[in-house]
Amino acid sequence: MHIPVLPKEVLEYLNPKSNENFIDCTIGEGGHAIAILERSGPNGKLLGIDLDSQQIENCKLEIENYKNRIILVVGSYTNLKEIIRDNNFGSARPVRGQGGSEGEQDEQGGQTSNGVNGILLDLGMSSWHLDDSGRGFAFMKNEPLDMRYLKDNELTARQIVNSWRENDIEAILREYGEERLSRRIAKAIVEARRVKKLETTTDLIEVIKKAVPRGYERGRIHFATRTFQALRIAVNQELENLKNVLPQAIEVLEPGGRLVVISFHSLEDRIVKNFFRDQSKDGVIKILTKKPITASLEEIKSNNRSRSAKLRAIVKT
Ligand SMILES: C[S@@+](CC[C@H](N)C(=O)[O-])C[C@H]1O[C@@H](n2cnc3c(N)ncnc32)[C@H](O)[C@@H]1O
Repeated sequence: MHIPVLPKEVLEYLNPKSNENFIDCTIGEGGHAIAILERSGPNGKLLGIDLDSQQIENCKLEIENYKNRIILVVGSYTNLKEIIRDNNFGSARPVRGQGGSEGEQDEQGGQTSNGVNGILLDLGMSSWHLDDSGRGFAFMKNEPLDMRYLKDNELTARQIVNSWRENDIEAILREYGEERLSRRIAKAIVEARRVKKLETTTDLIEVIKKAVPRGYERGRIHFATRTFQALRIAVNQELENLKNVLPQAIEVLEPGGRLVVISFHSLEDRIVKNFFRDQSKDGVIKILTKKPITASLEEIKSNNRSRSAKLRAIVKT
């Protein structure tokens, strides 16, 4: 099973309580969702969203025990409000710390919340994408250059490297990959594709390898890491999606409800940090994490993916 990142910290900041409702905008294989459901029983509901239909199938295998309390939706969190409305999830009644809340009586006579008490965004790809999807997310494997979460998405990584103009490739390497050698790599890609189209991760790795000096990045990260990150962000419009979902998440939360975001690179973290700062200045939210929370050495040892994770959390006022 997928090991969720920062599991203890997610629970600490989301602080799920009995019979509360949560939205996991990136349910993946359900690691965090299960941890939340364990705390929100017996009647708390969870709306689980993932853009990748295969991930929803993977998740179904894991959440069997909770299926009466979970609604799974294949969709993008950019459509959060619409998904909530279509699934009639929660309603705008105050619950936490608002006094006078009158949630529904459930069949066992317990008090259930009607609103959304917490939202989780665990961004990017999952370890399943890297290890088993066969879609070219990992540079250690020879796979077709795809990198889509959504199969219907027209744009693929293959298309970008084989048909975009050199300047446009250079721009995404620089902006989304923060790649210092963006010019060199973009030039090398365009030269290589004149001879033969780049079809696989190995084709691309070979081109990057020739374009960068030996020992590039001094072993801190693989020399292709930034190019792969840039392509994945561009294919899936990850930064635009993040900018779109944050205001929706704040809007749909109950007062007293919490939003937790885990990001994996500085571009995402900056978007989250700036958005939270502005909203807190406006008095809409209170920031719970002055600095981003990162994984302990112990967690990093057992789950390498956690090494770049940064968690930020807020409570709606
Ligand atoms: C890091 S994984 C989540 C792992 C999950 N927290 C767990 O414990 O198993 C991120 C997930 O977000 C999904 N995703 C990426 N972009 C999305 C979007 N715009 N809308 C919904 N899901 C998205 C990916 O398909 C992936 O499954």
